[in-house]
Amino acid sequence: MIRINENYTKLKASYLFSDIAKRVSAYTAANPGKPVIRLGIGDVTEPLPRVCVDALHAATDEMAARATFKGYGPEQGYAFLREAVAQHDYAARGCKIDADEIFISDGSKCDCGNIQEIFAQDVRLAIPDPVYPVYVDTNVMAGRTGANVDGRYQGVTYLESTPANGYVPAVPAVATDLIYLCFPNNPTGAVATKAQLTAWVEYARRNRAVILFDSAYEAYIRDPAIPHSIYEIEGAREVAIEFRSFSKTAGFTGTRCAYTVVPKTLMAYDAAGNAHALHALWNRRHTTKFNGVAYPIQKAAAAVYTEAGRKQTSDLIDFYLANARLIREAMNRLGFKCIGGDNAPYLWINTGRDSWEFFDLLLNRAQVVCTPGAGFGKCGEGHVRISAFNSRENVETALTRIAAALR
Ligand code: MLT
Repeated sequence: MIRINENYTKLKASYLFSDIAKRVSAYTAANPGKPVIRLGIGDVTEPLPRVCVDALHAATDEMAARATFKGYGPEQGYAFLREAVAQHDYAARGCKIDADEIFISDGSKCDCGNIQEIFAQDVRLAIPDPVYPVYVDTNVMAGRTGANVDGRYQGVTYLESTPANGYVPAVPAVATDLIYLCFPNNPTGAVATKAQLTAWVEYARRNRAVILFDSAYEAYIRDPAIPHSIYEIEGAREVAIEFRSFSKTAGFTGTRCAYTVVPKTLMAYDAAGNAHALHALWNRRHTTKFNGVAYPIQKAAAAVYTEAGRKQTSDLIDFYLANARLIREAMNRLGFKCIGGDNAPYLWINTGRDSWEFFDLLLNRAQVVCTPGAGFGKCGEGHVRISAFNSRENVETALTRIAAALR
């Protein structure tokens, strides 16, 4: 009799955003005359930057000619893209990251979810609450947690982000091994200062731990004092892996391109205490299970680093940040406290009431979809996340409807 991986039975029945999509579909089926505006899942709405589209077309033409056709590419990504990333995202910020420390992939969701495979079964996890659900769920699937008791998996150290700590958790008092951090944060939109990130790097060095740093939203940082990369912190090359994505930077949610940085100086240990380079392990995993991102997509991603590409992506981000400002001002006018939206595309609204109830209220009375904070963890209760990804017209209409619904 074939048996299942019983760790899956510890999970909630469906993934948060699938759950929300089901509720929204049920609502639209029952109310066909009431168009819904989606400010829930962080999915971009504006077209790809022109430079990316031109690069896609040109690369597709290359695939149409025998002389320039490409079959399998390097699993880790083409040198032209890895070198552009190393130069523009790292060297330009004073970070020493070599092109061969960068692994191009089809998404940070997959990379954040898959990375846990290279660590031991019994590593001690430190995971933020609220959190992007992928970090927790993939460790549950792998059997690194106990059962879910009262909204928390046993055996996990939760890093609480609350109004009291400005939604940036401090390092825990206990030792942990594998630490997930995300800044600018999904879902709260909070950012971490250099001093806060330095405390995390020092903690990881003291404990010979590894930080998994998700900086998928770094392009939204407008405050020049806020680090974009964990490698801006001294010593981080010895303790951190970083995830970045073109999804929110250049509108690639449907196009799929991201990368993971694993410095060659980053070590972890076997049971006998011998050090192993995580770069070699991730390379082994990546080349065994992944065959690379399509050539035209990598060309489109590389176009982001041209002068025109930098200008067009920056304009795109400014557009979403202007949406975020409108949302923040409107929610403040309605008397809600909120953070985020100034260096991130997400607003975290302290509603002071049950978050699924508030979600239902906005859906039923305003036909606006947000994300209930409780879906991101226990500390998300009493909050909702509103995403700035939509057209200006839809954001303005949504805000007018929300104001009318809450009056
Ligand atoms: C979100 O809404 O949190 C994002 O879309 C998640 C993701 O990028 O996978």
